[in-house]
Amino acid sequence: MTKEYPSIFGHNNDNQSRFLAEPMTDAKRRFCDEMDVLVFRDGARIVGVMMGHPVDWSTYYWRTIALLPEMQERRIATRVLELTDAPLRAAGVARLEGECLPGNLRMVKMLTGQGYLVTSTVASERFGVLLRLTKFLVPEARAVFDRQFSSMSFVNPQPSRRLS
Ligand SMILES: CC(C)(COP(=O)(O)OP(=O)(O)OC[C@H]1O[C@@H](n2cnc3c(N)ncnc32)[C@H](O)[C@@H]1OP(=O)(O)O)[C@@H](O)C(=O)NCCC(=O)NCCS
Repeated sequence: MTKEYPSIFGHNNDNQSRFLAEPMTDAKRRFCDEMDVLVFRDGARIVGVMMGHPVDWSTYYWRTIALLPEMQERRIATRVLELTDAPLRAAGVARLEGECLPGNLRMVKMLTGQGYLVTSTVASERFGVLLRLTKFLVPEARAVFDRQFSSMSFVNPQPSRRLS
């Protein structure tokens, strides 16, 4: 992360973040030690990382995911996300959450393609304005969300309601 993240996430020519940079500290390292860490390898070489942790008893947050540029756009992250839902659901997770920049179309497309819904926006001094996306792993939770916040007829629109 220390070596590759500045160029993967860098926003300008000298790779300086526009937001509050937080270099590795003992506290950050302790926090990372507590996270679930998935390391992607090509042989012995580390080519990507994905980290997540519980937010509460039934909510799990994917904190970060990044692949080296030459490993991107090969559907690696999509395939990993397809594999991680089942064990997290079996461990009692009812909802998954992740955040990304609205302009990170690849991430937005990947998460929405996996069934994540945009549930809020977050503005922070560390990462800027982010979309927060949620995927419900249990039907009861999704049903309540749909009833309260998505009760439009876009899933099965009535012909008479369609705009022509
Ligand atoms: C974001 C990232 C983790 C996605 O992993 P990936 O393995 O490259 O993604 P995939 O190849 O599985 O593609 C995911 C989706 O994005 C689409 N996609 C790929 N490149 C795209 C592009 N340039 N623009 C728009 N969509 C794109 C793919 O078609 C796929 O959608 P589909 O399932 O509908 O076909 C990876 O590209 C990465 O490390 N990016 C840099 C770091 C980053 O942005 N991390 C996320 C921070 S929140």
